Amino acid sequence: MASTMIPAPHLDVRGVLQSVRNEANTRSPLFLALFTLGAFTAASALWSFSRLLLRAFILPGVNLRKFGAKKGSWAVVTGASDGIGREFAVQLAKAGFNILLAARNPEKLSSVALEIQEKVGGDIQTDTFIIDFAHADNSAYESLASKLQNIDVGVLVNNVGKSHDMPTDFVDTPADEIHDILAINVNATVRVTEIIVPGMVSRRRGLILNMGSFAGAAPSPMLATYSASKAFLATFSAALATELKPKGITVEHANTYFVVSAMSKIRRPSALIPLPRTYVRTVLSTIRPGNFAPYWSHSLLDYVMHSVPESLVVAYEHMLHKDIRKRALRKRERQAKKA
Ligand SMILES: NC(=O)c1ccc[n+]([C@@H]2O[C@H](COP(=O)([O-])OP(=O)(O)OC[C@H]3O[C@@H](n4cnc5c(N)ncnc54)[C@H](OP(=O)(O)O)[C@@H]3O)[C@@H](O)[C@H]2O)c1
Ligand SMILES: *[C@@H]1O[C@H](CO)[C@@H](O)[C@H](O)[C@H]1NC(C)=O
Repeated sequence: MASTMIPAPHLDVRGVLQSVRNEANTRSPLFLALFTLGAFTAASALWSFSRLLLRAFILPGVNLRKFGAKKGSWAVVTGASDGIGREFAVQLAKAGFNILLAARNPEKLSSVALEIQEKVGGDIQTDTFIIDFAHADNSAYESLASKLQNIDVGVLVNNVGKSHDMPTDFVDTPADEIHDILAINVNATVRVTEIIVPGMVSRRRGLILNMGSFAGAAPSPMLATYSASKAFLATFSAALATELKPKGITVEHANTYFVVSAMSKIRRPSALIPLPRTYVRTVLSTIRPGNFAPYWSHSLLDYVMHSVPESLVVAYEHMLHKDIRKRALRKRERQAKKA
């Protein structure tokens, strides 16, 4: 038979191992360096993957009582009338905080406050603060500061956020959209935090929860301003977390992939895209200082994203955003025809 005539290529495993051993025995610096590097890489990959599993499925978060739940403390939630912010307001009230809800639309805010009163009732107080963070001036922030002057704020959720209407090259992005994204995502977070931190420091307790985005974890072409504003939040949060930890304050940056909401324009939940209620329940049960993705499937995605070269992620996002833009423009055309 033909097969017996052609010798199968065969790997001399024993020989290879022997030569590796010989190499090791010579203690060549190159071998030692490569071996150390390989062992280090493998160990660190194993460590970060087990940490991910521990965080997502096993370790409980910091108990909300540490931040004053059921002791008359308040939680301040920005962008509290819809989506993720509304869920934070409802669930923090259920956990025993009085709630200050901030956003633009007074009717929407009152209806969430009413819902909290009906669902939770009891001793929980609610209050609203009408503010447009896209156009908030010094006097708007001063009036927020005076409202909070004598209030024990245990939790601040910097949730309000704005993204681009659709993926667009920076050069074609309307100036007011760029302005509003920076005013809301960057300025509002810094200024509200500035107002609330001193009281937390003097009470030596508090939780600052900043809502991050995957768009900030890697540069996102066609969402440049949003992406950079969320990267700002990640860096700001990490620095603050280290400063404030010895002062008894927990700062968490919740890195978020898609969640069903008006902003994401996604209506159906899936394994990767939870409902706000599910998402917020996870966030509140896994509180700990630092930057991480609290939702289990988001944390897996985050892990994968950080295991491949960033240029690949950026190229993929660019492709994705071109496609999303095409579809958004087509949808707009259809709607224009209908009208
Ligand atoms: N949904 C996602 O897939 C996703 C993914 C990653 C990160 N995030 C982040 O999660 C946060 C919440 O997003 P979401 O999806 O829950 O958004 P959303 O459903 O659109 O809700 C936004 C909330 O912010 C308020 N708001 C909007 N503009 C405002 C302004 N100029 N001044 C004051 N309040 C304003 C809105 O109420 P009014 O209109 O009444 O003001 C509403 O209560 C954002 O920081 C976002 O970047 C979301
Ligand atoms: C952000 O805050 C700075 C400092 O107060 C201010 O100069 C700037 O105009 C603000 N930017 C936006 C976009 O609101």
